[in-house]
Amino acid sequence: EPADLLAEFQAKIDREEKIEPRDWMPMAYRKTLIRQMSQHAHSEIVGQLPEGNWITRAPTLNRKMILLAKVQDEAGHGLYIYSATETLGVSRDQLTDELLTGKAKYSSIFNYPTPSWADMGAIGWLVDGAAIMNQVPLCRCSYGPYARSMVRICKEESFHQRQGYEIMTVLARGTQAQKDMAQRALNRTWWPSLMMFGPSDKNSTHSAQSMKWKIKRFSNDELRQKFIDATVPQAEHLGLTIPDPDLKWNEETGHYDHGEINWDELFQVIKGNGPCNKERLQARIDAHENGEWVREAAQTYQQKQNNQHNE
Ligand code: ACO
Repeated sequence: EPADLLAEFQAKIDREEKIEPRDWMPMAYRKTLIRQMSQHAHSEIVGQLPEGNWITRAPTLNRKMILLAKVQDEAGHGLYIYSATETLGVSRDQLTDELLTGKAKYSSIFNYPTPSWADMGAIGWLVDGAAIMNQVPLCRCSYGPYARSMVRICKEESFHQRQGYEIMTVLARGTQAQKDMAQRALNRTWWPSLMMFGPSDKNSTHSAQSMKWKIKRFSNDELRQKFIDATVPQAEHLGLTIPDPDLKWNEETGHYDHGEINWDELFQVIKGNGPCNKERLQARIDAHENGEWVREAAQTYQQKQNNQHNE
């Protein structure tokens, strides 16, 4: 790739100008975006499953309506991000194929089970909370379509986070059994939500380049720390205990110190060996196969329209 084009590209990014689909861009920038954006879109789609598990069993009609709306929002997020990814010259069919054949990654967090109603609270509060921490800076990402798609997504995620925290508040102020259920959900979700931010900076293969290109604005560890600092007081307010005996306010740094993350667990889950990886992938394969007749009907209808138009 010509050095002058590369230099002008970087200068444009440094001037905080957005890169748009028709602009020249280095192959590696395009590839990185397709990788990150498609993984992100897949996460939104697979992310419907752990909560979808509770739609039929939500404790009240009102809770059921809220949960249904939230899960539908996640489907919408997946669609925006797939569309934004298509502007980079890759087709939705290809991305779907990569997900269903297990070639594509999606966020580790969605490979954990949701055995109780309190998990709906913990997911909204922590998983959507972590997602916002990561996605608000993506609203300023250098690639225009990705940045713009994040604006509405972040507003919706913010509502999701509040609804989760509200579920936790009700449980934490309820009977001892409800409080215990909330605590167990926090115990299950805490460490996996810290892993959502990715490996530590020293093991993050893409961070340095992605930060230079202003795709990422903060490193994995920086965002993880911001999340911990914001969440500890929220847990205290609920009267729940974060399952980390080493968690301690550090007067000098102005941040919470925390215990060691089990990186082996993250890498195992990413490799496909988490508690629900197989189940999640199978659910997507089944949905795709069960939707075959819809795709066929839509294509037949389109064909009919084209024939009529040509007559
Ligand atoms: N789960 C699964 N894979 C992960 C995770 C994770 N929590 N964290 C990192 N990885 C993968 C990366 O995708 C990368 O794999 P690849 O090289 O095969 O693509 C590898 O581990 C190394 O990690 P990094 O070099 O740190 O990768 P990157 O710079 O892309 O940073 C991050 C990872 C922070 C997740 C980034 O891609 C990102 O910000 N993505 C957009 C947000 C997103 O996808 N959120 C999904 C969950 S939120 C939700 O859906 C509600």
